[in-house]
Amino acid sequence: MAATAEQELIELSRQLIDSITTADWKAYAELCAADISCFEPEAVGHLVEGMEFHRYYFNLGAGDSPRNTTLVAPKVRLMGDVAVVTYVRLTQRINEADAPTTSSFEETRVWQKQDGAWKHVHFHRSPCR
Ligand code: GLY
Repeated sequence: MAATAEQELIELSRQLIDSITTADWKAYAELCAADISCFEPEAVGHLVEGMEFHRYYFNLGAGDSPRNTTLVAPKVRLMGDVAVVTYVRLTQRINEADAPTTSSFEETRVWQKQDGAWKHVHFHRSPCR
């Protein structure tokens, strides 16, 4: 059975997060619009536009610590050729004290269908409190 648009968008969101976890710049860049905008902690209160800001972190590599990422309760709101995907992202890794730790972020990711393909056009990422 063909995937629904909602299923496709959740799968694309998982691929996006996997590309971040593995520092796969090619995969990340293919999923994103060149003029993507974002608010995220690394941008310290500024709306950042474009891909160069993000490339910096991919150039640092994935690091040595094994990481496991879970998207908790992803929701999709479809509005024609635009969709909003929301979830909490849990990341498990080994910290500096060699102990397993989990971080959590609220993520809102906006996708737009451009020339027949979903492109990631905006996101907002905040630490859970
Ligand atoms: N920091 C890049 C992203 O969350 O898409």
